[in-house]
This record gives sequence, C-alpha cells and structure tokens, in this order.
Amino acid sequence: MICFGHRGASGYEPENTLRSFKRAIDFGCPWIELDVYLVDDHIVVIHDEDLSRTTNGTGRVSTSNFSYLRSLDAGKGEQIPTLEEVFTLVDHQCGINIELKGPGTAAAVGKFLASTRYPKDEILISSFDHHEVALMDPDWNRAALFEQASSEYVDRALALHAVSINLDRHLVTEAVVVKAHRAGLKVYVFTVNAKADLQHMDALAVDGVFSDFPDRVLAMQDKH
Ligand code: G3P
Ligand code: CA
Repeated sequence: MICFGHRGASGYEPENTLRSFKRAIDFGCPWIELDVYLVDDHIVVIHDEDLSRTTNGTGRVSTSNFSYLRSLDAGKGEQIPTLEEVFTLVDHQCGINIELKGPGTAAAVGKFLASTRYPKDEILISSFDHHEVALMDPDWNRAALFEQASSEYVDRALALHAVSINLDRHLVTEAVVVKAHRAGLKVYVFTVNAKADLQHMDALAVDGVFSDFPDRVLAMQDKH
C-alpha cells in the first residue's frame, strides 16, 4: 500500500502547513496530499472553506483576500501556505496529490504545473468535483474522489481518464477493489488512521491509503 500523508502528517502537526508536510517527508512518506483554493490568483493550501477550525481567522476562504489569509495563524505559528511554497519545500522528495477544492482551481493548478516542468509521475490531481477534474490537462494523472456509495465508481473514473478511484474507507469492499483493478484503476482510500483499519485495507489489497499518521502505514510496510 502506498502511503499518502493526509494534509501532511496532520495527526502530529497543523494540517496543510509546511510544518506538516515536512514531518511527512521526514517520516519517509512517498506522497503527501493537500487541498487547494484559488484566492486573488494565488493557489492557497487549506481544507475548509470556513477559516475558523484551522486558523485564528474568521469568514470564508473564497471571500477573503490573500493578504488576510497570509496574516493568519494556521497552527504553531504557521502561515497558510501557497502551493508554490509546498513545491519548493518538497523539491521532489515525495509525490504531491493536489485535491482541487474550490472553483477555478483546475485551470490555475494546470498553469502552475506547466511552469514547474514537474515530472508527471510525481503528481496526482483529484477532486470530489469531477467537472473540475475533467478541466485538468489529461496528461496529468487524475483521480476521481467519492464519499457517497455509488455503482458507478469505475465508469465515472474511466470517463474522466482517471488512474484511480479514491474512496472513503467505508465504501471499500473486495468487490469494488476487484472491479477497479480489472478496469486498470488503482484504489486509494481515505482516511485510514487506526491500525486495525490499516490492516483491513491491506487485506482488501487496496493500492494506497491516506493517513494522518503516515508513520503507522510505513511501520506496517517494514514488517512485510
Ligand atoms: O483526498 C482524500 C481526502 O483528503 C478527501 O477528503 O475531506 O479529507 O479532503 P478530505
Ligand atoms: Ca483532501
């Protein structure tokens, strides 16, 4: 199972901050996952549309200006990072899964990626908003996220020319994994933190998990 450090190593550090991504890299995590919105032509890395859970600010990300967002404490004195800052930190030490949260993010992320000349195999683009995923240049590896049960995971992912279906862990069954694999799709599962749940996903032969505790996933792999 590939390990995606969910919002970095967010079980240990403030989620979606440079500190959290650095912790995941220090664990030896092969991938990090992060969430992006577009604000004043800047791609900012934060999960919630509402600022109150993860910062000392109030209001909504999409109606705030960039300088206000940058003035906030996102935990332990960290700023809300830009996507560019995350790329500078990562510097090819791990893959980056960019989850498109806000409208307009596909075009902005596509433009940014083109400017970085990043290798395609170090990037995965995903979203619950499949229309946004479809706007990404298909040269980039793309994933369809699902949090509701559906009989159409595979068909919808294939229609998007996605490489994977990224499922909430409660949706994963052996039948879904087999069907996805037969269609040539990977199955990546979020968010898997408890050791028993990690072992269950391993037994179901999923291809990867998103975890707030990437060290737990890596420790399991060491035992194999
Ligand atoms: O990409 C996997 C997972 O991060 C999706 O859910 O709510 O944590 O962004 P959420
Ligand atoms: Ca996410």
